Amino acid sequence: MASINFQSHAGGYRAELDEVERASRDEIVALQTKRLAWSLAHAYDNVGHYKRAFDTAGVHPHDFKQLSDLAKFPFTVKADLRDNYPFNMFAVPREKMVRVHASSGTTGKPIVVGYTKADIDMWSDVMARSIRAAGGRTGMIMHNAYGYGLFTGGIGAHYGAEKLGCTVVPVSGGMTERQVQLINDFKPDIITVTPSYMLAISDEFKKQKLDPRKSSLKFGIFGAEPWTNAMRVEIEQTFDMDATDIYGLSEVIGPGVAQECVETKDGLHIWEDHFYPEVIDPETGAVLPDGEKGELVFTSLTKEAFPIIRYRTRDLTRLLPGTARPGMRRMEKVTGRSDDMIILRGVNVFPTQIEEALLATDWCGGHFIIELTRDGRMDEMTVLAEARPEHWDGSGLTTHTERVATFIKNTIGISARIKAVAPETLERSLGKAKRVYDKRPKG
Ligand code: DLL
Repeated sequence: MASINFQSHAGGYRAELDEVERASRDEIVALQTKRLAWSLAHAYDNVGHYKRAFDTAGVHPHDFKQLSDLAKFPFTVKADLRDNYPFNMFAVPREKMVRVHASSGTTGKPIVVGYTKADIDMWSDVMARSIRAAGGRTGMIMHNAYGYGLFTGGIGAHYGAEKLGCTVVPVSGGMTERQVQLINDFKPDIITVTPSYMLAISDEFKKQKLDPRKSSLKFGIFGAEPWTNAMRVEIEQTFDMDATDIYGLSEVIGPGVAQECVETKDGLHIWEDHFYPEVIDPETGAVLPDGEKGELVFTSLTKEAFPIIRYRTRDLTRLLPGTARPGMRRMEKVTGRSDDMIILRGVNVFPTQIEEALLATDWCGGHFIIELTRDGRMDEMTVLAEARPEHWDGSGLTTHTERVATFIKNTIGISARIKAVAPETLERSLGKAKRVYDKRPKG
């Protein structure tokens, strides 16, 4: 793998880190306690929603003395943000905001988020830190294929790369042929893109009869959607690069809330000096001890324009102790959102589990969709999995698909029909992939 030798450069590399990345756990906890007290008061004093929600719950920012006191404060959910559309969650006068972003939202109005100048600086800092943790360095070229616009991916990664001192190619998503041409001509070291769109770029390399392993790309920073370690292996081998995971959400800041370190690739370090994580039981709301899996909840510690208190992300993961950055906890790779969970005849399934089963074969390269239908009273799952061109013979590959169905039955415990489809027949996502098509009658 074309990566930096962290052992021999350990001294120099550590010296490049932000001071807080070298802080001890105790120092981080002290900083969080101080900053949380500020953030709770800032939200309560300046946002009508938080004042009403805290008053209704009978808590006041003065009740916060230590980190465990945060559990007394009410959660914030997506509906709260929607009810305050567009600008009522903001804690500063509109004139102080230098930018807004919005998440598309599948139904109804989007969620609008805002940033002051200081918020943009902080976001650029955590994003620069993320790119560096992924292997990026000052002076490198970064091909940024996250979408630009209201989505936070493109512009968020862009500002971080500039802050780190990279040359950014702001290509955004789409026009896959041109993506490949620019990678060939500009020779970037880093690519930032959703993992599903990276597969589309990889197909285009092959279509143009170019060997992706010979491309200049050394580091890939993939996120905005769930992906598996099996997909990491697929991408790393295809491009001979190091692939790491980046996590974030608009409501908390955008990309750069947490990032996997390239030297360990063992889950994502949360930049805990700015974002305080909790994992809760999604049914009861109780805070779970580190190590237990549940729903991830975030509180912002320093954000001015859009403070967010105990926001329920719906993402499922668990918190683990820091490794490459010992003072900051890690979150395990997000395997799915509670909203993406499919319940098929009583068994819970995430699309990432299907991805893992498909990538354990050699005939499917990772393009797939899941269709849910109902036959009488029975729910059925059909997985349409695209064959790699070199494996497709037009026959449907039934011995291979039956093997995957048996594997899924034995590991996940569900009966799914697997259908191999010809290369290039499934629609490609330019950003986040849509995996599940629910065609069951409603109600
Ligand atoms: O997707 C921000 C982002 C851009 C992150 C680029 C990383 C890279 P939203 O559109 O608000 O923001 O969507 C946030 O996407 O709650 C997760 O469900 C999902 N998500 C983001 N990163 C990951 C990841 C951006 N690494 C929602 N793994 C989140 C799994 C992810 N899911």
